This record gives sequence, C-alpha cells and structure tokens, in this order.
Amino acid sequence: GPAGTPRSRVAGVAAGLETARRRTLALTDAEDAELTRQHSPLMSPLVWDLAHIGQQEDLWLLRHGDAGAQGLLSAHVERLYDAFEHARSERVTLPLLTPAESRVFVADVRARVLDDLDRLEERDDRGDDALFPHVMVEQHEQQHVETMLATHQLREGAPLLGVGAALPPGRPLPSGATPEGSVLVSGGPFVLGVDGVDEPWSLDNERPAHVVDLPSFRIGRVPVTNADWQAFVDAGGYDEPRWWSERGWSHRREVGLTGPQFWTGDGSRRRFGLLEPLPPDEPVQHVDFFEAEAFARFAGARLPTEQEWEKACAWDPVAQRRRRWPWGDSAWTPALANLGGEALRPAPVGAYPAGASAYGVEQLVGDVWEWTSSGFEPWPGFRPMVYAQYSAPFFGGDFRVLRGGSWAVGGSSIRPSFRNWDLPIRRQIFTGLRLAWDVDPGEGA
Ligand code: AVJ
Ligand code: FE
Repeated sequence: GPAGTPRSRVAGVAAGLETARRRTLALTDAEDAELTRQHSPLMSPLVWDLAHIGQQEDLWLLRHGDAGAQGLLSAHVERLYDAFEHARSERVTLPLLTPAESRVFVADVRARVLDDLDRLEERDDRGDDALFPHVMVEQHEQQHVETMLATHQLREGAPLLGVGAALPPGRPLPSGATPEGSVLVSGGPFVLGVDGVDEPWSLDNERPAHVVDLPSFRIGRVPVTNADWQAFVDAGGYDEPRWWSERGWSHRREVGLTGPQFWTGDGSRRRFGLLEPLPPDEPVQHVDFFEAEAFARFAGARLPTEQEWEKACAWDPVAQRRRRWPWGDSAWTPALANLGGEALRPAPVGAYPAGASAYGVEQLVGDVWEWTSSGFEPWPGFRPMVYAQYSAPFFGGDFRVLRGGSWAVGGSSIRPSFRNWDLPIRRQIFTGLRLAWDVDPGEGA
C-alpha cells in the first residue's frame, strides 16, 4: 500500500472526508428554493444529493452495510434516498428532508464517523482493508459533488459560483484532431487494471490487474478543443449523416442537436450562469458519445477503446510496468493536472507538459472526461466490493466508458484505472474526447 505511518494514514483518510464535505457544503450553501428546485429532469434537487451523501455514509460506515440495522433516519425516510427506487426526475415530488434537516443529518453522521476513526486509530485495526469503506464513501461523496456541479451548470439564473480559480496557460501544439497531433503507442502486452495491493482505494470495476495485448495505435497528444469542434460545426458536421452512426443520427435529429450543450451558437457559451466567449484552445465539453463518434469520423479518426486509453496513460514501455499516475508515481499537484473543481472549467491544451505520460500524452487526467468506444463490462476475475450495487447492475447495459476525470473530480476519486460510465446521449456531465487512429502493420513495429 501507499507510504505513511498508520497514524498519518488515518489522519489522511479523515482529511479526505473533510475535503469532500467542504465541497458539498459550498455547493449547497444557497437559498432553500435553489436546493429544493428541480433544475433539470436529468438531475436530482441538490437537497437530495446532500442527504443521500449522508445516507450512504451512515449505511457503509456506521452500519457496515447492514441495511436492516437502524440508522439515524427512519426506514421510510431512508428509502427516499435509494437511487434505484426513485428516478432523478421524480425525486422533487418526494417528502424529502428540508435543507436544514439535511445539514443536521450529514453533520451528525460525520461526527460519529470521525469519532469511530479516532477509536480505529487507537486499536491496532487500521490497515487498508479497515479503511477501504471510508475512502469508498469519500469517493462516493466526491462523485456526487461532481453531479451537483452538473446541476449548477444546468441551473438558470445569476451566477452563484463565481468565475473559477486561475489555471496555467496553454502552449501551442498541433491539433489533437489531426495525426500530426498524435503519438504512437507501439503494440504489445501491458497490464490493464490494478490490484488492491498497489491501489488500495481502487473500486471493484478497476480490478484485477491482468495482461492485455494490443495492436499499435496512435492517440491524440491532447484532447479535442473548442476550435477543433467549431471547424466541425462550420463544415456542416451536424447536417451530414455520413459522419454519424445510425443511432447517433436519429438521436441528433430527434433532439435537434446543433452544437455542444451550453454553446449559444454565436461563439459564446454559458458557464455557471456567465455568458463568455468560447476559449478556442480549451478542451470541448458537454458533447455526448454520438457527437464524439461523429466528430472522430469527420476527422478521419475514431474514439480510443478504454484499454488503449489506459495503456497510453499508465504504461511505461521502457520500464515495462505501470505508473500510478501518467507523470510517474508522485502525488498529484496543481502543476500536473486540473483536478479538484476550483477552476470551474478545463485548462487550455498544453497547460500541463509536466503531467505527460510515458508516451508523451498530455491532460489524460483532469480537464474533461473522455469518451471511449467501450461498453461497461467487468474485467475478467471481477469481484464486487462491499457496495456490491456500485458497478455490477450496470455491466452489459447501454453505457459507454469515460476515462481520466474532469476538472470537477476530487483528487481521491481519479486514477488511470478509474472507470466512469454513462448513457451515450448524456452530455450534461463534463465530457469531451481524445481521438485515436489505427496504425498500418509495420509502422508501429
Ligand atoms: C460512477 C458516476 C456513474 O453517478 O451514477 C454515485 C456514481 N454511484 N452514487 C453515478 C455513483 C452511486 C455513478 N457513476
Ligand atoms: Fe450515490
């Protein structure tokens, strides 16, 4: 497992929980009407996310997953926060806890959890296995923070979150929408996925590590940008069925897509209530899988598979081993990738030369989630974790895997092995793309 004395390990886990909670409270620090309103049928009211975060923490950390045991909420109130039982579009109609009640509930759960962590530290019972549920719960909260940011982005009205923190400048690079802007990943075996000994906080769908052999491919050094996407729009890409899959074209027609969500059509975009010019060198976001697929075909490319994406991100072909991060084994710093949510937007391409992978691929972690061509399936040897319904119900469904995390992702909830998934029509999440190209046999030998 990662370095650190047991004492600092427990303190680190508590600090991670508190970081997630600061973000939750910041995004729910608004008038009651903002929290109880349905900003979009795609999203829960913010007050649902708030109490659901506490309900999951109560279940996994105070009751060790025993849903039959009495939690801090009565059984019928607790059921309001079961994501399988109530669709997001219906949650606004439920007799939910008020914002004030929700805040008291989550604080009450957290106080007991931190108390238990103190006691865990005193006993000799503080290995990775004992702490896994806490970091799992921290990651769950961070995932809902990102969901709440998507709700804020959909919200109409005056800005609540400000303009976002400063980011490093980009640097000029060939477009990632052209082969000149790509790097070669030579064919051969690599290790896909991780084990608990190397990545103790990895979730069930990232495990186990196993060898996969891939043919050579090329992959964009940087993600596709707003300028790249504008060229697709200007070339009539949204009116050319030949770039689109059959399903994609019928969705594009049904919904009337003409550009990424939140683009105004005149070179501007709406971002957390602000209207601003589209930054040309920023990775495009708010495109769905079908749009990403169409763009790739227009560019003479394709989307990478998730196996290709992970090899380009984590494999060191010289050392013949995985790195913990694209840049190496050292911990994330703000100079390496745009994570943590403070920026409220992706960084321009070229902003993180020090974050490049062994193959020289940049901005794999942070900025935008990247669509892959892969459906969400278990790795061979998959075993569900304590939260058994996290991944398994979604395998084999109509989901596409997203990789790398966005600017909105909390640092504890992203790794090169991390797998996100969503329906191919979804674009309210902070998602963009990176292209891949086949390589002629011989070129990559
Ligand atoms: C991993 C982002 C697809 O939001 O549906 C939150 C995360 N699971 N609570 C989702 C999740 C249960 C999940 N994703
Ligand atoms: Fe959840």
